[in-house]
Amino acid sequence: MKLLVTGGAGYVGSVCAARLLEAGHQVVVLDDLSTGHADAVPEGCRLVTGDVAERAGEVLAEGFDGVLHFAAKSLVAESMRDPARYWHGNVLTSVRLLDAMREHGVTRIVFSSTAAVYGQPESVPITEEAPTRPTNPYGATKLAIDHAITSYATAYGLAATSLRYFNVAGAHDGLGERHTVETHLIPIVLEAARGLREQVHIAGDDWPTPDGTCVRDYIHVRDLAEAHVLALEKSLPGNHRIYNLGNGTGFSVRQVIDACRDVTGRRIPAEVAERRLGDPATLVASSERAQQELGWYPQRREIEEIVRDAWEFVRDDRG
Ligand SMILES: NC(=O)c1ccc[n+]([C@@H]2O[C@H](COP(=O)([O-])OP(=O)(O)OC[C@H]3O[C@@H](n4cnc5c(N)ncnc54)[C@H](O)[C@@H]3O)[C@@H](O)[C@H]2O)c1
Repeated sequence: MKLLVTGGAGYVGSVCAARLLEAGHQVVVLDDLSTGHADAVPEGCRLVTGDVAERAGEVLAEGFDGVLHFAAKSLVAESMRDPARYWHGNVLTSVRLLDAMREHGVTRIVFSSTAAVYGQPESVPITEEAPTRPTNPYGATKLAIDHAITSYATAYGLAATSLRYFNVAGAHDGLGERHTVETHLIPIVLEAARGLREQVHIAGDDWPTPDGTCVRDYIHVRDLAEAHVLALEKSLPGNHRIYNLGNGTGFSVRQVIDACRDVTGRRIPAEVAERRLGDPATLVASSERAQQELGWYPQRREIEEIVRDAWEFVRDDRG
């Protein structure tokens, strides 16, 4: 298939673009490089530099079989300070993309949604039936896009899948996390291992979890890329399917720090700080639906393996 990957110069998009090439697809990346890197676009993909909202129509006019839509703003704190940036950058941009797809007869889409659409879960593991009550504008904008996709699929026959990722981590084949503003735990802990941060702050150790620190579900980026290939192949016209993607196993902040110490062999100072307001104690996905309907099973489930791949990527100072 000829595929457009929006945000393919970013972390998840670049790994997925590489996996799509491996699977034999032809890939064009559309990315404005606002948080991505031109050198992350895998060899063999054509890069068009520009904003999805402005250039999707002109690019899709070439003729495409599908779109994988990763391009987004995705910083929770920034979305609370400056929600307009998120409603414009995420929702308006995505609606423009959907309209361009309609105009040019592109019928498949796989969308990067997020666990943030669920907010504070009533129970874990979190299934796709859980109430969607996002607690920040980032999650709210992703949920709004999910709703837009549902109605476009129903009315215009789009074959659509939203993948709600939990915490993406690890690296693949020289492609990994290089966020200028890093908010993800594993790269932060690895920055401390490299001496780029004095210490790691643990946001509370009195949560109702086995060791008192928050528990999160880390999915290896390579496993995530596999899910995109399956979602694309199994999508059906007129249907919008939604899948939660996680490891199924949660790891606590302390377990992640310990894994980083083991893998790097370095001293990583850590200090307990205040709880962060609105943090759920445990966020773990049920990926049963993805397993049953897509035949997707995460292969890289051990935290040590996820950390080892992330460490190999940053150790050579690529970060
Ligand atoms: N990384 C995670 O743990 C995680 C978890 C859940 C969901 N997601 C979602 O996955 C997607 C990718 O996340 P990531 O971590 O790779 O982020 P990233 O910032 O590395 O990648 C996003 C890419 O999109 C590009 N971009 C942003 N707005 C654009 C626009 N209007 N036009 C063109 N390009 C644009 C950026 O330059 C960047 O290359 C996002 O949609 C994010 O919400 C990520």
